[in-house]
Amino acid sequence: MKLKIAVLTGGGDCPGLNGAIKWVTKTALDPRLAGKRPVSFEVVGIGEGWKGLVEVDPGDPESCDRYLRHLDEEVVRTWDRHGGTYLGTSRTNPFNPKNDRSERLIDNIKRLGINVLVVLGGEDTLGVAHKLHKLGIKTVGIPKTIDNDLTGTEYSLGFDTAVNVITEEIDRLRTTAGSHSRNFVVETMGRHAGWLALHGGQCSGAYIILIPEYPFDIDVVCELLREREGREINYSIIVVAEGAKPAGQQEFLRDTKVDDFGHPMLGGIANSVALEIEKRTGFETRSLILSHLQRGGTPSARDRLMARWFGIAAVDMIVNEDYGRMVSLTRGEITSIPLKEIVSKLKLVDVEKYYDTERYNGRRSIL
Ligand code: F6P
Repeated sequence: MKLKIAVLTGGGDCPGLNGAIKWVTKTALDPRLAGKRPVSFEVVGIGEGWKGLVEVDPGDPESCDRYLRHLDEEVVRTWDRHGGTYLGTSRTNPFNPKNDRSERLIDNIKRLGINVLVVLGGEDTLGVAHKLHKLGIKTVGIPKTIDNDLTGTEYSLGFDTAVNVITEEIDRLRTTAGSHSRNFVVETMGRHAGWLALHGGQCSGAYIILIPEYPFDIDVVCELLREREGREINYSIIVVAEGAKPAGQQEFLRDTKVDDFGHPMLGGIANSVALEIEKRTGFETRSLILSHLQRGGTPSARDRLMARWFGIAAVDMIVNEDYGRMVSLTRGEITSIPLKEIVSKLKLVDVEKYYDTERYNGRRSIL
C-alpha cells in the first residue's frame, strides 16, 4: 500500500522548518526502511499553509503548480541549512466562523488523494490539525514557534535561533550604548509568553527583563536604573517582550487589525518604556524592536538537530498509525502527545520558579 503524505507549514515562519520538511521526506522515502515497512510513501509539499490547501483547485494544473510541490530526496537535500520555509506559509484559518472554508479544505484533501497530513505550526495551525483529526483526517503535528509557548513540549522549532539572534544583537548594541552612555530598551517577540525575552535577556546579560506573565511597574524599572547611578556602568540594557504590559494596562498594538485567528498585532512597548524612563529619570534611553530579525537567518545547530529528530519522529508516528498527535520533547526525550492537549492552553513562564519580581530578571535561585 502506498500512502500520500502532504506536508505544510502554517503561522509565522522560523529557522528549522525546512530541516523538518527534509527529514519527513527523507525518512518517508528511505529505501532501506521501505523494505521493513508495511506501507510505502510519496510526499507532497503544500504551498502557503492552510491557505494553499483551501485555495488549490485539484482540477486546474496551473493552480496545482502554484500550491503543490513534489518532494523527494534530491529536492530537499540542502534544505536543513536554510531558514524560512520553502513551502511558504500563511495565517489562514479554514475554520474561521466569519469565513468557514473547512468543507472546501476537506474536499481538497480527498480530491488530492492525501492520506496523511504532517502539519508544522504553533497553537493556531495545530488547532486546525486537531479539528481535522476529529473529522476523521489523519494528522501528525510538529511544534514550531519562536515563542516556545506550545504546551506539551519543552521545545518548539525556531526558539533557539531566535534566542541566539537576540543575544548577538544585544552584544552588538552594547558597544554603541557604552560609547554614548545610553540605555537601550530592546523589544523581543513573545505575545503571551516571556520565554524569548527571559532567555534572550539572560543570555545577553540584560539588566532588566519585562515579560507578559508579570505586569511591570515603571517606577520599579526607574528605581532599578537609579540604583546603578554612580557605579562604573554607564548604560543599561532593558529587554521587553512585545506582550509585556504595565500593571493595569493593555498590551501595545502595532495595528488595530486582527489576524484570521483573532490575534491582535502586538508591538511598540519598547518605545513607550524608553520614553517613560527618559521622562522620569533623565537618563538618555533609546529603543530597538528586533521584530522579524528573530525569525530570520540560518537555523542554529539545536534547531537543525531538533528539526531532524522531529521530522523523523513524525514519520515513525505515521508508520505506527499514531494519528491526532504532535511530536514533542519531554524531559529531553522525543515522544508525542495528543493534539487535544495542546490546543487552547499555552506554556507560560512560571513566574514563581523563574522570575525575580524585585529585580525584574531571571531568578538567582535555581534549585
Ligand atoms: O509566531 C508567533 C510570533 O512570532 C509572535 O511572537 C509575533 O507576535 C508574531 O509571530 C508576529 O507575526 P507576523 O509575522 O504575522 O507579524
